[in-house]
Parts: sequence; C-alpha cells; structure tokens
Amino acid sequence: MLNLKESQQRRSQLLKKMGEGVAIIPTSPELIRNRDSHYSYRFDSYFYYLTGFKEPESVLMLIAGEHPKSILFCRDKDMEREIWDGFRYGPDGAKEQFGFDEAYSINQLDELVPNFLGNQAHLFYSLGADSHWDARVTGWLNKVKDLVRTGVSAPASIQDIRQLIDMQRLVKSLYEQDLMRRSANIAARAHNRAMQFTRPNMHEYEVEAEFLHEFYRSGAQSPAYTSIVAGGANACTLHYNANNCSLHDGDLLLIDAGCELDGYASDITRTFPVNGKFSAPQVDLYELVLTAQLAAIHAAKPGNHWNAPHEAALDVLAQGFIDFKLCKGSKDKVLDNGDYRQFYMHRTGHWLGLDVHDAGDYKNKAGNWATLEAGNTLTVEPGCYVRPADNVPEYFWNIGIRIEDDVLITNTGNEVLTKNALKSVADIEALMKNA
Ligand code: GLY
Ligand code: MN
Ligand code: MN
Repeated sequence: MLNLKESQQRRSQLLKKMGEGVAIIPTSPELIRNRDSHYSYRFDSYFYYLTGFKEPESVLMLIAGEHPKSILFCRDKDMEREIWDGFRYGPDGAKEQFGFDEAYSINQLDELVPNFLGNQAHLFYSLGADSHWDARVTGWLNKVKDLVRTGVSAPASIQDIRQLIDMQRLVKSLYEQDLMRRSANIAARAHNRAMQFTRPNMHEYEVEAEFLHEFYRSGAQSPAYTSIVAGGANACTLHYNANNCSLHDGDLLLIDAGCELDGYASDITRTFPVNGKFSAPQVDLYELVLTAQLAAIHAAKPGNHWNAPHEAALDVLAQGFIDFKLCKGSKDKVLDNGDYRQFYMHRTGHWLGLDVHDAGDYKNKAGNWATLEAGNTLTVEPGCYVRPADNVPEYFWNIGIRIEDDVLITNTGNEVLTKNALKSVADIEALMKNA
C-alpha cells in the first residue's frame, strides 16, 4: 500500500499549485475482455499517484483555496459483493486508512459534485481523456449553470489537471526511487534467468514463461507492458510480440520485458545468443550498441538536456555504421541526412515511472529540450536493426539488437537501476556457459 504520508504530501503539493478551484480525477474503469470476463484491473496512474487507492469506481476531488480539502468517492461496503469479489474499504474505511478529509459513496457522485462546483474559479479536469467522464462532467456543469439565478456561478475555466501532476511525477521522491530500484532488480533477475534458461529449439514463449515466473515469485503484480521475446529476424520488428517462434542455433534473442511493482514499472531489454556464444558479426554490432548505450548513460546527468543521451548514442552509432560499411560518407553527413535511420529508427529513451512511457513533457514551453534533474527516471535504449538489403553485407542480415537500462538522475550523475542485468559479452557468455 502506498505510504499514507507520501500520498497526503502529493495531494497538498498539488492543491498549492492549483491555487483555487476544484479538481476531479476519476480512476480507470473495469474492462470486459470477453463475454463476462474482465481484464485484470489496473488503476489510473494519476489517480493512484494522488491516493494510493486501488479500487475501481473511485473518484478523487480536490478543493483548493484557503481551506484545501481532499474528498474520495468510492464503492460502498457490500457483504454480498465482498464474498464474491473481495474486500472493499467503503467510504469510512477509505477516509481513515488513506487520509482523506471526506469520503462519500460513489452512488452520491451526481448528487454532490454540482454543489462542490458552484462558485469555484476553475475546474481542473482531463477533458478528452474519456468520453464517458466528459459527458458526466458536462452534465454537472450544466446543473451548476441552471442555478445561475440563485447566485451560484459555474467555473469560468477548465484546465487540464494532468499538466500540473506531470510536473510532480517527473521528479521521483525517495519513496518512489526505492520502489523503482526494487522493480528494476526483479526485472534484472528475470533477464538473467531467461539467459540461463535459453537453448536452441526452444520457443520464444518458453523463455517468456521463465521471466514471468521470476516477476511473480518476486512479488511483482504484473508485467509493466506487453513483453517482446524476439528470436532472429523477429528482433527487427520493433513491436514484435507474438512470441511464438522457435529459437535457432546461431541467432540472437532480444527480450524487452519489465515488471510492475506496486504501480511502478521497470523496462529492460537484453539481447543474447540463443546458443550462448556470439558470432563475429553479432559481436561487432553488439559492442557497437553497447558502446553507444554507455555513452548515452554517461550523458544522462543533471544539467544536461533531455536529448543529450540520444545525441551521444547517435554519434557512436553513426560512426560504427560507417566503419561496418552500412552507411557511406562522413559521420556529420550520415547524421545530417538521416542515413542511420535505416538501422536505428527510434529514440534513445523515455521517462519511466508509474507508466512505462511515463508522464512528463520532453520540451519546455519555449520549445527547448527539458533539463535533466535529480529524481528524474528514464530509460536508455539504443539499438541496431539490420534487415536484408542490397546495401548491407549479408553476414549482418536479420541481426536486431537493443540494450535498455533504467536510469535515475542523481545530484552528481546517475544510478543505473537495472545494473544487475548482465550485458557485457563476457558476462553473458559466462552466465550461459555455466547455466
Ligand atoms: N518496452 C517499451 C519500450 O521500451 O519503450
Ligand atoms: Mn523503453
Ligand atoms: Mn523496453
């Protein structure tokens, strides 16, 4: 459960930033998977960030101003439903356990919200994120407008609450850093386990089962995103996730998989030989990507701008592509004309946190790259994907490599949260040999 003091602090920080007005932040709906079976429930990250409350059918309302208040609407206690589906806090239990000023039944939402909206300067709400909630909020605003002749006014503006929360979410507290370190460690162990287990003629899904086993036995609640287990040429399909092919002697296996621990994601990619030994062309490209990744990690430090790690990785990759006769001309030319994109077509990372592609802008309002600061968490994930082509030596065909780590920016540089996932050629080969 999210630390009570932590979530109260987050709410009071946001209430201060709001200044005045009311915020409405619903959690995610439950979703049907097929007929009467539901997808495993996952709360909304914004809602969870501010509440620590995991039950569906819940809404947080924040009232800013001289007497700030946080109010939760949630499901009532219901013994019949609790026998079937499990424990519910109910408004009284939630108020006490999660530190809200007030809590009401979710069934009272339509009745009570218009009262809270009257005579407020602003409504903070994520308009456009969910059409069901948009319609409901519009209905409440119309109800307030109907009261205009009684002297009640509706909020004069609607502002997107996500922008304010994003700024908070970008800088992880010590509590969050600790959770992310633990999430990263579980995922690192899972990748090492997958390397030890992999043999030629296995299927991609057998290896997937191994790292999922490590996630769950370590207390992670779920994978953080759909896992990619891509043998051989499949690694050149960036979002490959069928994970159903057999693994061939002599091929590489690319695994992009992370877990979610108490809401916080890890996101690791490792690429290793199915038979435990890199071939010469595989080593060439692997060492190139690893050098690019280490350069990018080195550039991930406070005061540098968001794009510095990407630029550092590109610099190494472009020169490598020229050296290996994949690109022609000078490094500046290859960088300027974008020839490197034939082999490296994605960016080098993203923010990481409650969401795998976490909240937060990459540029400021002036259009400049965001400046990295202590407490930011991001991935560093350069790669190289070589599809068969006339301009490519055949010994490189169908090699796909990505190396991805999770990095916390510290006051003096960074901490690689996923450092326990092996990645040097020597370490990987030794681990697989001795498995
Ligand atoms: N696994 C998603 C990503 O690397 O962005
Ligand atoms: Mn990633
Ligand atoms: Mn990834």
